[in-house]
Amino acid sequence: MARAPRVVLCAREAAAPQWLAALERAFAARGLDASLDFRDAGDRNARAGVPPAEVAIVWKPPAALFDEQPALQLIFNLGAGVDALLALPNLPRGATLVRLEDAGMAAALAEYVLAAVLRVYRGLDRYAQQQRAAEWTPLPLADKSAVVVGVLGLGVIGGAIAARLRDSGFAVRGFARSARTLAGIDCRHGALDLDGAFGDFLAGLNVLVGVLPLTPATVGLLGARALSRLAPGAHLVNVGRGAHLVDAEVLHLLDRGQLGAATLDVFATEPLPPEHGYWRHPRVLVTPHVSAVTELEPAVAQIADKLAAWQRGAPLGGVVDFARGY
Ligand code: GLV
Repeated sequence: MARAPRVVLCAREAAAPQWLAALERAFAARGLDASLDFRDAGDRNARAGVPPAEVAIVWKPPAALFDEQPALQLIFNLGAGVDALLALPNLPRGATLVRLEDAGMAAALAEYVLAAVLRVYRGLDRYAQQQRAAEWTPLPLADKSAVVVGVLGLGVIGGAIAARLRDSGFAVRGFARSARTLAGIDCRHGALDLDGAFGDFLAGLNVLVGVLPLTPATVGLLGARALSRLAPGAHLVNVGRGAHLVDAEVLHLLDRGQLGAATLDVFATEPLPPEHGYWRHPRVLVTPHVSAVTELEPAVAQIADKLAAWQRGAPLGGVVDFARGY
């Protein structure tokens, strides 16, 4: 594009000053000539005064943004998951939609998952229970290399999680749509078909880590049929999206002991409603979608680099395939 692009940031008012300042700095550092406007994501009927932009940088924008902005060619999502954006009927399908790749999130997620896996592996919850009864009973500890952890989704984030678990001594199996090679990880691939490679991937896992994007193909993927394939007493860790789980069936499997524990950071409805069964289940740990948050500096650097590449007509990473849904 010949002239300087107009960019609109659509985010929460409270976060705006920091993001705007960081974006200005990153654009200047790259010699990017772009003008920057702000539109409050928290106000559904915000001012119509923001001039038409070619580029939007968004986090949870109201659908109204896309009616106000008819000239968008490039949209950056300030997060890895684009399911909420794709659900907006007026998202311009002709624009290029780019999600964040890693931007500090992969390391944070890998740390969260490792902490969750170790908590259950080392029996910390059971010791906490024993402590309440002043009970001194050492519990047996399995050999780590005999604990098979399956990572469902091997993109940038899933790959980092799998590597962290492997480096910590667990036996790691991974599953992706297409073939991947990761040293020391048993990578499987194929369709999400329980009668095929996906079913084989799940078979006998001691821990299942969900890190898939939410698409029509993955909604409700993890219900009783899939989770019954895991080893008895398996630990389910979900950091992808809550709607992958069939909650009632997960709770039923926990009650029966088919699942031994669940560590859940994402939920179909967030915040998790107060009456939800996960809150009070003794073998569920609920965390409020904190496994990774978008980090300002790496996110801004990535967006500025990609904006510069787009201006040069160079290919971009992290472009969302609308048909695939991620
Ligand atoms: C957070 O859940 C994200 O999609 O970045």
